Amino acid sequence: MFIHKNKRVLVGVTGGIAAYKSPELVRRLKDRGCDVRVVMSEGAKAFITPLTLQAVSGNKVHEELLDEEAELGMGHIELARWAEQIVIAPATANFIAKLAAGRADDLLSTLVLATSAEIAVAPAMNQQMWQHPSTAENLSLLQDRGVRVIGPGSGDQACGEVGPGRMTDPTEIATLLAGEALARPLVGKRVLITAGPTWEAMDPVRGITNHSSGKMGFALAEAALDCGAEVTLVSGPVHLETPAGATRIDVRSAQNMLEAVLENVNSADYFVAVAAVADYRPINVAEQKIKKTDESDEMTIRLVKNPDILATVGAMPNRPYCIGFAAETENQIAHARAKLTRKNVDIIAANNVAGDEGAFGSDQNAVTLIHHNGEIEIPTNDKYAVAISMWRHILKLANSA
Ligand code: PMT
Repeated sequence: MFIHKNKRVLVGVTGGIAAYKSPELVRRLKDRGCDVRVVMSEGAKAFITPLTLQAVSGNKVHEELLDEEAELGMGHIELARWAEQIVIAPATANFIAKLAAGRADDLLSTLVLATSAEIAVAPAMNQQMWQHPSTAENLSLLQDRGVRVIGPGSGDQACGEVGPGRMTDPTEIATLLAGEALARPLVGKRVLITAGPTWEAMDPVRGITNHSSGKMGFALAEAALDCGAEVTLVSGPVHLETPAGATRIDVRSAQNMLEAVLENVNSADYFVAVAAVADYRPINVAEQKIKKTDESDEMTIRLVKNPDILATVGAMPNRPYCIGFAAETENQIAHARAKLTRKNVDIIAANNVAGDEGAFGSDQNAVTLIHHNGEIEIPTNDKYAVAISMWRHILKLANSA
């Protein structure tokens, strides 16, 4: 359930430099008519005073586990029952670890254990801490328990390093919690997206394909729709519902996909090639099911190269702004940068597809956007959140091109 007027929202503030952004979050929640109370951890008070948060929330800030002023002397239970939504922003690596372990050694961690409210965390930390496997495991555990993870963003950090770990902008956190569409910067724009695998038939029942589920492409379509775009989604064989409002064209092979793209690309402002297109297809497609023979234990299938859809669009004279993906099991960045040039596109989103944790089929992804002047990391998150982040960066890059 989204936040709305009169919703009782508890903002938890933990001890990181991003705590200076918490008053702004409180204000954005109050703008939406929410009743906001704030709980600060001990560490948070090193970065911001309770008085500031009291002034913006209009309520006393809660700090102590044992509160003599609380009706039953048990502030954590009262607050846990009061809250309909809890959002912890910033959520430090330490606090995330505490939540994952179920520890209850201060007011905030205790009330989170005692509540039935929806919980969201907006992580903020040094980029190395964000990328540490412990943090990733803790967050994945929290997500499995239904905790919503918002962000973080990527960029310059207070510690002087650059990378993922910046707390998501407070306006964006409030917007996401309110279920409102983010600003609609794609209104009036047409977006053409390929998604899913292709199926390259050998005979009527067998073919060559891959593990793409279509989730990343569909998430980009949904995010583009939420940003106001008109979306055409050319999809290989997947079991996903069409995002509401998208025009979907179902295809099977790379050649079908190319035809559908060529029919729609002239009116597109953005072309996003997310599909995992088979690079080769069988030269001959048997009309009947190929039979096993006793003559040999081996069988040879001759393959021929498929057309490269992204490179074809990249070579067009008045082409749309082009974004490709690179699914790599090694040297992601170097391979992705080579594709950027070879396919003559504007951005390549490099993602790791190695091992069980790879992007194929998963609900989560992390990508590095490789463009002609640098790289932008979008850290692990659910594919819709990654897609929203991608569109934000794509638009910035396209508008500055
Ligand atoms: O569908 P999911 O399960 O959510 O998984 C998402 C994903 C891993 C499939 C997706 O994030 C991804 O990485 N897609 C690209 C996969 C791929 O085939 O990469 P590639 O390195 O082979 O191709 C590079 C780019 O050229 C891609 O944009 C691809 O769409 C495009 N291409 C490739 C070959 C070809 N013949 N035509 C193309 O257009």
